Amino acid sequence: MHTLILSSNEEDIKKAALIIKNGGIVAMPTETVYGLAADALNGDAVKKIFAAKGRPADNPLIVHISDISQIYPLVREFPKKAQLLAEKFWPGPLTVILPKSDIIPDEVSAGLDTVAIRFPSHKTAQKLISLSSPLAAPSANLSGSPSPTALRHVCDDMNGRIDAIIDGGDCDVGVESTVITLASDVPRLLRPGGVTAEQISGVIGKTEIDKAVTNPLADGERVSSPGMKYKHYSPKAEVILLDGTDKDFYEFVNRPTDRNIVVLCYEEDKEKIILPCISIGKKHDYGEQAHKLFSALRKADENGFSVVYARCPEKTGVGLAVYNRMIRAAGFNIISLGSVNQQ
Ligand code: TXA
Ligand code: MG
Repeated sequence: MHTLILSSNEEDIKKAALIIKNGGIVAMPTETVYGLAADALNGDAVKKIFAAKGRPADNPLIVHISDISQIYPLVREFPKKAQLLAEKFWPGPLTVILPKSDIIPDEVSAGLDTVAIRFPSHKTAQKLISLSSPLAAPSANLSGSPSPTALRHVCDDMNGRIDAIIDGGDCDVGVESTVITLASDVPRLLRPGGVTAEQISGVIGKTEIDKAVTNPLADGERVSSPGMKYKHYSPKAEVILLDGTDKDFYEFVNRPTDRNIVVLCYEEDKEKIILPCISIGKKHDYGEQAHKLFSALRKADENGFSVVYARCPEKTGVGLAVYNRMIRAAGFNIISLGSVNQQ
């Protein structure tokens, strides 16, 4: 299949909308990561997304809207807490899970009784939705790889597999939206993102953080969000997280080695490390780290490294989103440095 590369001007967005109306699939920029979009109400079109990504059929998709009123036909209920979150954080990087209406095809909800809804703030995504329909869109990467935050990443994964890609430059947030379910008794955060757990509980009060956000699943454990059980965000290189003080970290990464290692580090670390480094931003700037993380993981592969040592991120604010992506990229492989350095 030939993949058309489109720009973000009105004429090209109209072309993309026509492709979608005709049942095709188009990668579009959003403020979080690039998404791979199809008409959310066309089950056959949505199936093409799963085929292009190699995505397991039991992993449901987020439906993207461009106006709050579009939510009503998609859900059975729009409870007060969801309305408060929508007023405060939409358009923006927040996805809410609600009981679904009958017009949501099974392909989108993967057979669940709920649907995930998001109103992105990216103008190109909004325009495309308003010219076509609510759009089902997962991240536009091959299943399991780091999500794409630049046109080049989408081309690397999807060229020849989808109808078109709209170039929207680099994505601002850099990690996928925060996902919260309001289909449970107590609201529960299923995936941390640009809207933080602290901001959410500031608006709706008590909010749980699902155990799977920071912990591996036990064998056979039931998950609230099917995406939690799959390997995620992984470059080809082996990722190892290093947990410890600055001193422990420098001591560990500066040990002699004959392995082909790159270190994902903070800006402040660079001159203290002998191995090649990729900086993901300043130590306490979690927003910058989120923005750079996925492109740094892809860069490790592009430059042919076989091992990535990465600093274990902080777990507050947007740092929790960075931590959640990193531990998955590392397959929960964390070395606690205090004890290792004494050996
Ligand atoms: O920022 C984002 O959310 C991006 C952009 C393109 O909008 N999209 C994205 O989609 O990250 P995806 O499919 O890569 O991740 C959606 C996550 C998956 O882990 C999926 O299992 C979960 O949301 N999800 C979707 N619908 C759900 C539902 N009804 N119940 C529980 N989890 C759901
Ligand atoms: Mg994804």
